[in-house]
Parts: sequence; structure tokens; C-alpha cells
Amino acid sequence: SDEPLVLGIETSCDETGVGIVRGETLLVDTVASSVEEHARFGGVVPEVASRAHLEAMVPTIERACRDAGVALRDLDAIAVTSGPGLAGALLVGVASAKALAVALDKPIYGVNHLASHVAVDIVEHGPLPEPTMAMLVSGGHSSLLLVPDITNDVRSLGATMDDAAGEAFDKVARVLGLPFPGGPHIDRAAREGNRIAIDFPRGLTMGRDLERHRFDFSFSGLKTAVARWVETRHRAGESVPVADVAASFQEAVVDVLTRKALLACKEHEVEHLLIGGGVAANSRLRALAQERCDMAGVTLRVPRPGLCTDNGAMVAALGAQMVAKGREPSDLGLPTDSSMPV
Ligand code: KG4
Repeated sequence: SDEPLVLGIETSCDETGVGIVRGETLLVDTVASSVEEHARFGGVVPEVASRAHLEAMVPTIERACRDAGVALRDLDAIAVTSGPGLAGALLVGVASAKALAVALDKPIYGVNHLASHVAVDIVEHGPLPEPTMAMLVSGGHSSLLLVPDITNDVRSLGATMDDAAGEAFDKVARVLGLPFPGGPHIDRAAREGNRIAIDFPRGLTMGRDLERHRFDFSFSGLKTAVARWVETRHRAGESVPVADVAASFQEAVVDVLTRKALLACKEHEVEHLLIGGGVAANSRLRALAQERCDMAGVTLRVPRPGLCTDNGAMVAALGAQMVAKGREPSDLGLPTDSSMPV
């Protein structure tokens, strides 16, 4: 095959991801997570994450190559997340990628983490329509991106002003006594609850707020509202209806996300919406997004949950696009940038 064979390395947060793709075909996606080491701290600890990446890196690369039946010398390029993310964690991935690139004499491509969350859907659902609207919702990001060309033209329309969507899920889960990371637990608890039981606030969706922050998000007011609601119950000595709180909170988040995503599609006349990032695994978000896309005549693309959370396949997928489109590789001085814009 003359399609580029690319290995991707992702270490922006707590997953050590190594993926290999050939063109638009995923060969392997290997992830070693340190999430359990962070659980007792209730959040990701940067120092712990960096050390775990260093320990996991070589075995994860070896496992990926073995499982894909690929020899390192056959690769056409190495791709690596160079930002945004945790500074020390990114450094481990980028240093590893540089070492591979030098040892193998292969080109290296530094890629943006947000763009690769979008690009991963190419190995799942084929080429991206141009333009595509992308909404990224994870533990670290909530962004709306207009994507005319994933390899060199990704425009940020808006982002969170405070907490990321996943962060809100994790913090509310903590208030409800659910384990970290809380998103999947809230998703599960919400299935037994009533999503209109409590009318929680929808930030930046009305009046002047909406005018000024059309495609921005704010979830900290919602998080505080849930915490207050629960605290009031506790103080009164009443039990907390966990399922109803989870369902009502979740509805507030996904209502805002889907409303703004479809507004962005409408105003920018885009007919394809892609949702990525860890929160895209949320079952209610998927259902409501599908419902609203159907009504608006917008096609919805959501990668399978395993490809929505951080992984190496997404980096390899974007790297392969860069090679295929003839983009210039990075030089070996490739820096990391923990707050890299798209
Ligand atoms: O993309 P990701 O793996 O990495 C980070 O950016 O951290 O996203 C993890 C986030 C966590 O906040 C987690 O609670 C959330 O995604 N998440 C979910 C679900 N599954 C994971 N949130 C809501 N519903 C889910 N089913």
C-alpha cells in the first residue's frame, strides 16, 4: 500500500496512547491509563501522570507494534501531541517521539490535541466533510471548532469560560458521593432519574450573555447550583435523590452543548457536526444531539467511546492526514506548548 504508515503518541493528560494507522485505516490503538493512580486524589496529578507516561511509554510502543504486526523501520512518520495539555506529560511524549524520529530517521509531526480529537473520526467514519463543525467536550476542554481543513485550518468559535464539561461532571459526581472520574457514574445514575425534576441553570444561553458569548460555555454556575441544592437537603436532614439530581444536572449540560452546537451549524451554514472528547461518550448527549441534528437536517458524527477519550490513534490519524496532504513536518526542535491554541 502507498498510504502513509504513521505511529502516533499521545501523553497530554493521564493516558499514554500509542496508535498506528495506515492512511485512513486504524491498525491498532493501545492505551495505558494512570487514571487509577489519580482516583484517590480526586483529579489528575501532573507529576504522577508524567512519571506514569515515562514508565508506560516503551512497553506501550512495543505492544502497539506487536499487535499491529508493524516493524518500526516500516513507518513513514511519527506524530505526537505537542499541546495543549499538562506540560510535564507532553514533554514525555514529545521527547519519546523525537528519540524515535532520530533513531529511525523518520519525519516527526507535532499535532494539536484538539484537532486530533476531530481527526480520529476519519478512521471510524471516513473522510471529514469540509467544512465540519466540531464540538470537543472532555475533562480539560469544551470547545466549538469550525474545521475547513483539519490539517491546517481549524477555527475556534468559542470555549468554556470556566469549568470544562467533563470537569463539571467530575465535580458534581463528587458532591453526590460518586467515584472519580464521575462522568460515567452520573450517566448511569441519570438513567434511573427524572431529567426535569430540578430546573438547574443553563449558563450563557439567554439575552446579553448569549449575545456576548454566543459559542462560549460556562458550567461553574451550574456546578455551584447543584452543590447548593444538595447542601440544602443535607442541612434539612433529608436524603438526596441522587438519580434525579444526576439526570437534571446532565440535562442542563447536554441541553446547552447541543443548543450551541446546532446554533453554530446554522449560523455558519455547516451541515455536519462531529462531537468528540470523553464527554461524547455520554448517552444522553448522544441521544439529544441526534434528535436535534435530525430536526435541523444536520448529519451527526460521533466516534465510538473508546476513540472519544484520549488515545494514540487520534494522533496517528491526524499525522497521516498531514503526510497525505504533503504538509511540512516539524523540525527536531519541536517544542511543547501546554496552552497551544488550535
Ligand atoms: O477526553 P478525556 O478522556 O480526557 C480528559 O480531557 O480528561 O475525558 C475525560 C472526561 C472526564 O471528565 C469524564 O468524567 C468524562 O470525560 N466522561 C463522561 C462520560 N465518560 C467520560 N462524562 C459524561 N458522561 C460519560 N458517559
